[in-house]
Amino acid sequence: MRDMGATSPQHVAIIMDGNGRWARMRGMPRTLGHKAGLEAVRRVVRCAGDCGITTLTLYAFSSENWARPPQEVRELMALLRLFIRKDLAELEANGIHVKILGRRDNLQADIKRLVQEAEDRTKHNDRLTLNVAFNYGGRDEIARAVDVLIRQRLAEPAKLGHGVTPEEISNVLDTRGQSDPDLVIRTSGEKRLSNFLTWQCAYSEFVFQDVYWPDYDETHLRDAIAEYMDRDRRFGGLSAVEKADIAL
Ligand code: FPP
Repeated sequence: MRDMGATSPQHVAIIMDGNGRWARMRGMPRTLGHKAGLEAVRRVVRCAGDCGITTLTLYAFSSENWARPPQEVRELMALLRLFIRKDLAELEANGIHVKILGRRDNLQADIKRLVQEAEDRTKHNDRLTLNVAFNYGGRDEIARAVDVLIRQRLAEPAKLGHGVTPEEISNVLDTRGQSDPDLVIRTSGEKRLSNFLTWQCAYSEFVFQDVYWPDYDETHLRDAIAEYMDRDRRFGGLSAVEKADIAL
């Protein structure tokens, strides 16, 4: 008996990799690869709802990306500004709830304001949640969460006797209130998590695609979803087939 496979993924998270190699192949500077990557972001956001996705998380700038050349860091900051300034009205009109994941304190003041504006203007939308992970690192997010829990315990010493639960941690992460990613996609052929959603990916399925991010389109997304739907998710338990065998 063949297993029925998973249902369509609700939360899809993407490590958008390969911008630099895409540019190098064309003899262009890396920054033009990131610019072309923003076009792919637009394509994927526009088709995500039609693909059955309710939460889309995109890894746009990691805590470790500060180590890149200053010009490249400036370009990535400029692309976030451009995305919010140019696309916010369209996102707002299309029912998209924008959420920025990651550390805010070391971002420039105008970016902090733009990020806040994007979140405020779209907070009542519910067709699709678009998480942009920017200045984001999974370990940094967990460290910030631990810090919040310590402060909560200090404010409420009665709680000190109770152990910390996984739910308590989930509730103070940047993704609080959201479901964990069902599917994580990484483009460009690399097969690493790179500090992306470290806590949330505990039971995610991974699909690695041999395409540089700037070339990514709806067909690639649908292929990844089809591969996911052929997977047998067990969450540490048994597959549907195994359970059926036991019931016989
Ligand atoms: C990884 O490719 C990609 C990034 C570090 C940046 C991703 C950013 C975008 C797609 C555009 C900005 C998007 C938003 C929403 C503001 P890489 O540079 O590591 O590629 P390489 O491994 O080929 O060098």
